[in-house]
Amino acid sequence: MPRVVVTRRVPEPALAALRESGADVWVSPHDRALEPDELDAAVRGADAAVVMLHDRVDAAFLDAAGERLRVVANVAVGYDNADVDALRARGVALANTPGVLTDATADLAIALMLAVTRRLGEGERLIRSGAGWAWAIDFMLGRGLRGATLGIVGYGAIGRAVADRAHAFGMEVIYTRRGEGGVELAELLERSHVVSLHCPLTEETRHLIDAGALRAMRDDAYLVNTARGPVVDEAALAAALRDGVIAGAALDVFEAEPDVHPGLLELDNVVLVPHLGSATEETRTAMAQLAAANVLAVLRGEEPPTPVV
Ligand code: DGY
Repeated sequence: MPRVVVTRRVPEPALAALRESGADVWVSPHDRALEPDELDAAVRGADAAVVMLHDRVDAAFLDAAGERLRVVANVAVGYDNADVDALRARGVALANTPGVLTDATADLAIALMLAVTRRLGEGERLIRSGAGWAWAIDFMLGRGLRGATLGIVGYGAIGRAVADRAHAFGMEVIYTRRGEGGVELAELLERSHVVSLHCPLTEETRHLIDAGALRAMRDDAYLVNTARGPVVDEAALAAALRDGVIAGAALDVFEAEPDVHPGLLELDNVVLVPHLGSATEETRTAMAQLAAANVLAVLRGEEPPTPVV
């Protein structure tokens, strides 16, 4: 009977599919991420692991798991938590969850874009503070999106879904992408009123948006990040927002989650939400079910539906 380790409780339909296959399914009893030593202990002797985006899948993990491990299924489209070379070297399959979270993440990018350009966080804080306020012709003005240029960094499925939505708001869309098409990053930064990040986190994209990139943006521009925190140098962003280098930012992801750079917490021109890109009931269930399907395919000796390695 194959042993399947699930490092954090996932929606029941996914667990049911794993159990119905006859596997011995262990689910972490904790309502938190496993500590590294707990993770290593949990995967010992496993044939398959369903892991979360905060679980480090590295050489130590693979050593701890041992010879039987055949597949690691990440419950996320991003897989920067996994050492792809180490997995490949040991012949362990890695799978992710593309597709099923595209709409939810694109929706959130648009929600953040509207929140920051229309000052929703600031307005909500004002009302909750109990401070007096009154409608006035010049009260809390933001910027409209019609006619504005949206620069999409990373034109994969999510980037394209954001572009579709942005067209409905009357925005002009430009983008960078690996391979053919699009514009150079320098041109995108210079022209965009909103820059939205949709690239994976890799050694090339770590701190892609640093102090220099922020200076290259328009001073009335906004940055939206629903990709991965380390794509942005958070300290540089806090300084740029404080000094008026750019107009504002809206962040779903952070460099050292769950921590947020203290400089950002003090600023009104930044909207901060806790990694909610894929956080809808139906999307999270679909992600977990796809991870389970990836595990079950490999255990049957088949190619997983959405392989990385
Ligand atoms: C992903 O799938 O990579 C997302 O960040 C999860 O919300």
